[in-house]
Amino acid sequence: MEPIKITDNIYWVGAVDYDIRDFHGYLTPHGSTYNAYLIVDKKITLIDAVKHGFEDELLSRISKVVDPSKIDQVVSNHAEMDHSGALPGTLRAIGIEKPVYASAMGVKNLSGQFKGAGLNIKPIAGPLDVGSDNLVFVETRMIHWPDSMFSFLPSQGVLFSQDGFGMHLAAPERFDDEVDEDFWRPLALNYFANILTPYTAQIAKVLEKVTADGLVPQIKVICPDHGFVWRKDPAKILSLYSELVQQKPKRKAVIVFDTMWHSTEYMARELTDHLSRQGIETHYYSLKNRHRSAVATECYEAAAIIVGSPTINNQMFPSVADLLCYLKSLKMKNKIAAAFGSHGWSGEGAKLVQAELKTMGYNVPFDEVRVQWVPNEQDLLPLKALGQSISEEIKKVAGDKA
Ligand code: FEO
Repeated sequence: MEPIKITDNIYWVGAVDYDIRDFHGYLTPHGSTYNAYLIVDKKITLIDAVKHGFEDELLSRISKVVDPSKIDQVVSNHAEMDHSGALPGTLRAIGIEKPVYASAMGVKNLSGQFKGAGLNIKPIAGPLDVGSDNLVFVETRMIHWPDSMFSFLPSQGVLFSQDGFGMHLAAPERFDDEVDEDFWRPLALNYFANILTPYTAQIAKVLEKVTADGLVPQIKVICPDHGFVWRKDPAKILSLYSELVQQKPKRKAVIVFDTMWHSTEYMARELTDHLSRQGIETHYYSLKNRHRSAVATECYEAAAIIVGSPTINNQMFPSVADLLCYLKSLKMKNKIAAAFGSHGWSGEGAKLVQAELKTMGYNVPFDEVRVQWVPNEQDLLPLKALGQSISEEIKKVAGDKA
């Protein structure tokens, strides 16, 4: 377990989780990393910890740099358990009395997580002396928890950005310059769409502030809590975030559905063909083989989300309800939406989907399309009309060019 040198006195000492696939309901097909960093100066400072279960990996890497008991202080930029879970075990090796600095909300959250563990959790009170420099802190509430904060080491221009600018990937590479942009961009988008979407307004404000304060040129390295350290060109990930927070719709549609006996599937195929023929980049997803978080990623940049459900026991299909619940929590903006579905007798499924899409704040300008039993050519005609209408709406908001 080797540490990785980032600068002359800053090391990556985190953990690589090759096996995780379900990250609180979000599919992580490539695993993840829990990044932690060690600043070795007159004072030795650990920035963040790792998930519970990875204490040995963290301590093994720290031990290749310094004796863990020599660590003077810990900074907790984010109190979610993938970064705080290993704090008690790590502090038992470091010294349980060593201070753990966190934001005021971080103190509350860590105290709630580790009742009776005897941790010495302290609120940050201005810059923190690390020896030849002070760490300065920027509270980044709700990016993406109330406790979240960034730490910045001005003399080296190193920003410790907790979950911001991260991605879920377990790999031997630690730096952005070890892979191509074509490789990391989809991973960064997937992470942003599933973790940060509800907080785009807060992210936009932070980006505006660091730009207005002239801090962007001072940022030489960004060290997030997941994925790559940005040392080649941190401006690229900053620029991607500046683009993503705008939630500008692209000329793209997502058709997502589940089906009982293939009728809703036939409808989805028909709609996919019509939209595609209108020059819309159309993505067809069956919930039988596509995870909700993969669908959410595709929805992020799409102008339209079109959801199909059969009716089962007077309800929409459970997998569709699961998707809508997940998408609702992400609060995506600037979406056109529509519903369709088949049924045998009562036919509530598509109606319930339509109603739910409206409560999600999407623009739902057209009636749902329903088919009873198995669709014939006549039954499918309304989908041609729906495809035509949706494509016109998409072109209005996303422009005529892809
Ligand atoms: Fe990586 Fe919000 O924890």
